[in-house]
Amino acid sequence: MNKPTNPATWEPSPNNLEPFWMGFTPNRAFKARPRMIARAKDMHYYDMSGRAILDGSAGLWCTNAGHCREPIVAAIQKSAAELDFAPTFQYGHPKVFELASRLATMAPGDLNYAFFCNSGSEAADSALKIALAYQRIRGEASRTRLIGRERGYHGVNFGGISVGGMVANRKMFGTMLGGVDHLPHTYNRKEQAYSRGEPNWGGHLAEELERLVTLHDASTIAAVIVEPMAGSTGVLAPPKGYLKKLREICTKHGILLIFDEVITGFGRLGASFAAERFGVIPDMITFAKGITSGTVPMGGVMVRQGIYDAFMNANDHVIELFHGYTYTGHPIAAAAGVATLDLYRDEDLFARAGKLENKFADAAHKLQGNPLVEDIRTIGLVGAIDMKPIEGKPGLRAYKAMENAFHDHNLLLRITGDTIALSPPLINTESQIDELFGERIPAVLKSVAHL
Ligand SMILES: Cc1ncc(COP(=O)(O)O)c(C=O)c1O
Repeated sequence: MNKPTNPATWEPSPNNLEPFWMGFTPNRAFKARPRMIARAKDMHYYDMSGRAILDGSAGLWCTNAGHCREPIVAAIQKSAAELDFAPTFQYGHPKVFELASRLATMAPGDLNYAFFCNSGSEAADSALKIALAYQRIRGEASRTRLIGRERGYHGVNFGGISVGGMVANRKMFGTMLGGVDHLPHTYNRKEQAYSRGEPNWGGHLAEELERLVTLHDASTIAAVIVEPMAGSTGVLAPPKGYLKKLREICTKHGILLIFDEVITGFGRLGASFAAERFGVIPDMITFAKGITSGTVPMGGVMVRQGIYDAFMNANDHVIELFHGYTYTGHPIAAAAGVATLDLYRDEDLFARAGKLENKFADAAHKLQGNPLVEDIRTIGLVGAIDMKPIEGKPGLRAYKAMENAFHDHNLLLRITGDTIALSPPLINTESQIDELFGERIPAVLKSVAHL
């Protein structure tokens, strides 16, 4: 392509779909039949023609407070006009301290410190780096091994894909971090099909951590990272007792336990964090998405008191953690975060999610018996519907379901493999839950039944 190098000759370009290389998207299929979103309000997206599309997945599991909520919009506008950017290396601004204080109050136990970044992927890598540095600072420098879990998702950076366990996200990208091992995933359809909340079967799988400790020796292991509820792989709630057991084994062996709460944080499971719902306090919690209800990119790590304290050991003027991002604690994100937490509090949205859980589960599980459906799992305001794959074409039925949902059934949903994942904004009503599972999803399933 012949491109003009002199800005004076730059022309406005026609709106061309081609130059945007879309991630996690089949580009050619999308560009042949785009699913274009023009605006959003509360529970709905709107396409270019103004057609309302029910948001069945809170965008990408992130708009927990619903779309374009006035108090958050106003906070963003005010912040953009007042303080566009301020460094948080060696300088600070009030909003980021306010947000950290709010999070420290919300987080369970002594998870009293917040480190900020811009996404869930950065949050995962930040937590892994903090874990390694902490072990070294406390005199356990041989603890360099990181343990993740099969089917885990911790974003797309090198640390995250190394401890993650979704094959397609890993196989193209070389050897990744060394010294990583994985726990087995916790899903067993024979034992757990159609589970509501925590499955009864599978708690014993946490014992696999003891096996890894025996294999590698505790003195080589820095941290274990798991999603308390695995989201992106298709909604796998933790089996009863599983997380408590992981906690016990980690404590026994001096291994840090990290919960990746990028999806489960901020009300998704009816509590501030899944840690609170399951009564298990990890050493770190990673978060993103719901912290700003998806409005401005932000992520972070909540850290226990003892970890932060361990770093505060050198002379006062010496930097304790050589890690951070230009946009760590960005003023606009921080303002959005504070306004979002206010809204969650004022509308009691986490409790609302908890109250709707049974209704949501009842409505979802009514789809049991549909000939296309192989399993349904629900917990909090999250649900997954496994569809029978088309022979020889895994993922095609779900892809078509997503296409048809958007174009023909006014519904936005998330798919992974042949699973439909649902996680509507926490403001959804009982009648919208009926609409979702009683009308839209059955119509979508019908539309892909013949394939
Ligand atoms: C558990 C978990 N961790 C990390 C991430 C990555 O977040 P991001 O896409 O903001 O980098 C996600 C995204 O879905 C997630 O679900």
